[in-house]
Amino acid sequence: MTEREPEVFVICPTGSIAKGEAKAFSLSRIGDNGEARPFPIVIIHTAAGGFVGYVNSCPHDGKWLNIGSGQFFNAEQTRLRCGRHGATFEIETGLCNAGACEGQSLQPIALAVIDGDICLCGVALVEDIGFPFDDLDETMEIMIHPD
Ligand code: FES
Repeated sequence: MTEREPEVFVICPTGSIAKGEAKAFSLSRIGDNGEARPFPIVIIHTAAGGFVGYVNSCPHDGKWLNIGSGQFFNAEQTRLRCGRHGATFEIETGLCNAGACEGQSLQPIALAVIDGDICLCGVALVEDIGFPFDDLDETMEIMIHPD
């Protein structure tokens, strides 16, 4: 396992997430104690064409938003929706507007688009099998978590 300190990690090409869609990524980050811990994230390509990202953990009970159905959105595709108890969140802000954690927010992650890639900024990640810049599809794990 290699520990890295750079501030920018390539996650995926921008074209790999269609407009209006979202994808989950199961990453590992370096915790306060220096050990790796799971860092699930979700990246959303908004209908307006931007990218936003959050830690894929519902403020209510810490579940993946896409738990169960694998879906990230409500039926109208206007909100993120937690599959566990149905809390809904504003896509652009992560604020829960209805449900068990109303008023709380998803934890945002800093993204940047660099040379056509969506990059995660300011988080020290752990990579098990080498630095992923030159072979993203092989090294990044894209998971739709089952229940
Ligand atoms: S865990 Fe998300 S609404 Fe309960």
